[in-house]
Amino acid sequence: MQLLRNTPEFKPSEVTVAEEVIESYLDNPEGSGYYIFVAVIASSIAGYLCYGPTPLTENTWDIYWIAVSAEKRGSGIGSALIKAAEKEIRHAKGRLVIIETSSTPAYEETIRFYLGCGYEMIARIPDFYSAGDDKLVLQKRLSY
Ligand SMILES: CC(C)(COP(=O)(O)OP(=O)(O)OC[C@H]1O[C@@H](n2cnc3c(N)ncnc32)[C@H](O)[C@@H]1OP(=O)(O)O)[C@@H](O)C(=O)NCCC(=O)NCCS
Repeated sequence: MQLLRNTPEFKPSEVTVAEEVIESYLDNPEGSGYYIFVAVIASSIAGYLCYGPTPLTENTWDIYWIAVSAEKRGSGIGSALIKAAEKEIRHAKGRLVIIETSSTPAYEETIRFYLGCGYEMIARIPDFYSAGDDKLVLQKRLSY
């Protein structure tokens, strides 16, 4: 939670939802519909990723959240977390991974990161989050 609270890109309301998701996962790791990985460096959490099967789809998965602590960014933790999630999704026979994010300038580096991880921008919903803040949808078809 400290990592998420200290991630400047996230709004307090988003952090609250992330906390509810973590609690739901910890209460029922196999049945909550969410899976969570953390990256640990020298006993402290440096990165966080939450993903899960997209309800009512056949083998589509969502990566809901990813965050790396500001001082550890750019050292490969984010891409390692994405690779770990994709490996688990492949094991579960997932075929498509979806990521949704915001179009605000704060997320420009994040979008470059996703494109670098092999995700393709496939949709934009104008003014979705707020006036001027579009929802961007990225996807990756997993190869076997
Ligand atoms: C997006 C994020 C998870 C990336 O994690 P990271 O550990 O910094 O990423 P990596 O070090 O694995 O970088 C992988 C690639 O993306 C590039 N990249 C990632 N973040 C970058 C940044 N801030 N500036 C420049 N390049 C960046 C790296 O250069 C690297 O490219 P390369 O493999 O060609 O060298 C991290 O920056 C973050 O927590 N951002 C804020 C939270 C957020 O936006 N979350 C997503 C919305 S839910």
